[in-house]
Amino acid sequence: MVELSKFDLSARIGSLVLPYPTVALSGCYGSGAEFAPYVDLSRLGAVVLKSVTRRPRMGNPTPRIVHTPAGMLNAIGLQNPGIEWYLQHDVAKFAQTPCATIGSVAGFSVDDYAYVCERLAARNEIAAIELNISCPNVAHEGETFACDPELTARVVRAARATTDKPLIAKLSPNVTDIATIARSAVAAGADALAVVNTVRGMAIDIYQRKPRLGNVTGGLSGAAIRPIALLAVYEVARAVSVPIVGQGGIETASDALEFILAGASAVGVGHANCADPRAPRGILDGIVEYMTQQNVRRLRDLVGAANTGFANINQIEGDEG
Ligand SMILES: Cc1cc2nc3c(=O)[nH]c(=O)nc-3n(C[C@H](O)[C@H](O)[C@H](O)COP(=O)(O)O)c2cc1C
Repeated sequence: MVELSKFDLSARIGSLVLPYPTVALSGCYGSGAEFAPYVDLSRLGAVVLKSVTRRPRMGNPTPRIVHTPAGMLNAIGLQNPGIEWYLQHDVAKFAQTPCATIGSVAGFSVDDYAYVCERLAARNEIAAIELNISCPNVAHEGETFACDPELTARVVRAARATTDKPLIAKLSPNVTDIATIARSAVAAGADALAVVNTVRGMAIDIYQRKPRLGNVTGGLSGAAIRPIALLAVYEVARAVSVPIVGQGGIETASDALEFILAGASAVGVGHANCADPRAPRGILDGIVEYMTQQNVRRLRDLVGAANTGFANINQIEGDEG
């Protein structure tokens, strides 16, 4: 077993300091508690909960998942019980989770985001809020919030007005210029950015001559999107100076280190948990092995080290070193 205590592995997300940089991603780790019998959750930096909306959602027609080379397409359609049920039945159990719990908010209008954010952030069990802005805006011809800098700013501003807790805007890779969206989110008050959500895609069954997903299109995750996600982190890290939770196809410590060297302060593990929910722990151990080998004691000294345009903002407050 790797000795973690000799290293400073902390990562900052606004005012929230995670002891470890590994984050289990939304929609891929339940509430965290389900994995307690198999995984030492105290060795995770945080768990991001499944996105919750104002009203209950049944989700998309099945099939909702299709396996692809080196990844997976999903079109779950934000199935969730809605914020009221969630607050009454689910939130209390997160208090048992021995790592930070980050709530995830989704919506179909600016008002939806503000409402759900306010309700969720008011709970002590929730350490920070992530805004899943990869949703269509019903008042704007279904345009995805995360694909437009002004819509992104409106959601972040509205959510910001409801809470002082750390706010993470989760960006979409399905844009021409992610740096512009990142600047807009930060200017509107985001404390950190999650980079990136899934990449749009589809698959067709050639014998049935129809799309494989009930929803026709879906979001691609897993190793297939890693180089796309890594470039997005690299570009965002040059554009803004808030912490980044890098994600998209991270399966190993070496993958995670690429994201850290590109400018991510923390790393998210999603799809890899489907094969092995212990993946985040293996990644953490591998990062420490690399640090031992490279004679690095503080993880944040590696953040952005392969990105010449990166301004290192990852000092923990009061730390001069
Ligand atoms: C089955 C599934 C469900 C997901 N549900 C959500 C969700 O509810 N909210 C969200 O922000 N992201 C959701 N995601 C996206 C992941 O959190 C993550 O950002 C993305 O899959 C990229 O990381 P990965 O390649 O490590 O999975 C989901 C992904 C998968 C595979």
